[in-house]
Amino acid sequence: MSKVILITGTSSGFGKSIAEKLHSQGYTVIGTSRNADKINSAFKTMKLDINNYEMSKNLIDNIINLYGKIDILINNAGINITGPIETANMSDIKKVFDTNFFSHVNMIQKVLPNMRSNNKGLIINITSIAGYLGLPYWGTYCASKSSFNIIAESLNIELKKYNVDVVNISPGDYKTEISLNRVDRLESASPYYNEYKNVINSVNSKMKHGRDPNEVAELVSKIINEKNPKINYLVGGFLEKKITLKSLLSDKIFQKIIMKLYN
Ligand SMILES: NC(=O)c1ccc[n+]([C@@H]2O[C@H](COP(=O)([O-])OP(=O)(O)OC[C@H]3O[C@@H](n4cnc5c(N)ncnc54)[C@H](OP(=O)(O)O)[C@@H]3O)[C@@H](O)[C@H]2O)c1
Repeated sequence: MSKVILITGTSSGFGKSIAEKLHSQGYTVIGTSRNADKINSAFKTMKLDINNYEMSKNLIDNIINLYGKIDILINNAGINITGPIETANMSDIKKVFDTNFFSHVNMIQKVLPNMRSNNKGLIINITSIAGYLGLPYWGTYCASKSSFNIIAESLNIELKKYNVDVVNISPGDYKTEISLNRVDRLESASPYYNEYKNVINSVNSKMKHGRDPNEVAELVSKIINEKNPKINYLVGGFLEKKITLKSLLSDKIFQKIIMKLYN
């Protein structure tokens, strides 16, 4: 039987591109969306709100009942709520962490018993280059992605004896629906208004000319066939992929460069 692959958030963007690519290559792909009933996809799409843990458990149990296994989990669903940290609503911060971090940890917890008993598995986390740096007004998102990035290192050590690999793919700016789905807490009375607005405009124009999400789908397809995948894959433009060079610069010089890029 072909590999069974569960991908969260396949209604648009990376999730959709990855699911379409893997489905066309003959894998058994199960995608998810909160609006699965309205989606007409070539691959199977099942209903899931990843913040609903009971629903996540039922979905995973159903897939294992149907196919006997889950070979690969791709944790892709994600959201962004931007704004100055000083005035950020605690419920927004929690919502970003719930969706971008806790719900994925929950999915990982739910698939691991099956992967351990198969003595094989692959978990791919779609994190972000934003997890490597603190972008202004994107602080909550950056923090959620940074947390998600680091957990793969712990998991890889814990899961080595069960042959389960955990991989991070950290994309730069890609043309998906993420800007449309993003919530900006832009308030004209805010002391941060002008700078925040400039950052939003700059990010929006970068995203308009963002790269093709199929690049990430290609990378996923390659990783699936790697015998010994790396833990961290950076994908995007030349400068974006060089983000780890930040450790060679002083923090303050690095921040000056970032502010030049986003102003
Ligand atoms: N685009 C970029 O430049 C970029 C760069 C770095 C990282 N990323 C990351 O890539 C991942 C995919 O984002 P994208 O850019 O492809 O954006 P997108 O087009 O907005 O797709 C986001 C997906 O997440 C799903 N989702 C959101 N909240 C959910 C929830 N509570 N439960 C279930 N599904 C939920 C959405 O599904 P439904 O609304 O249909 O449920 C949708 O399919 C995200 O984790 C994002 O942070 C994107």
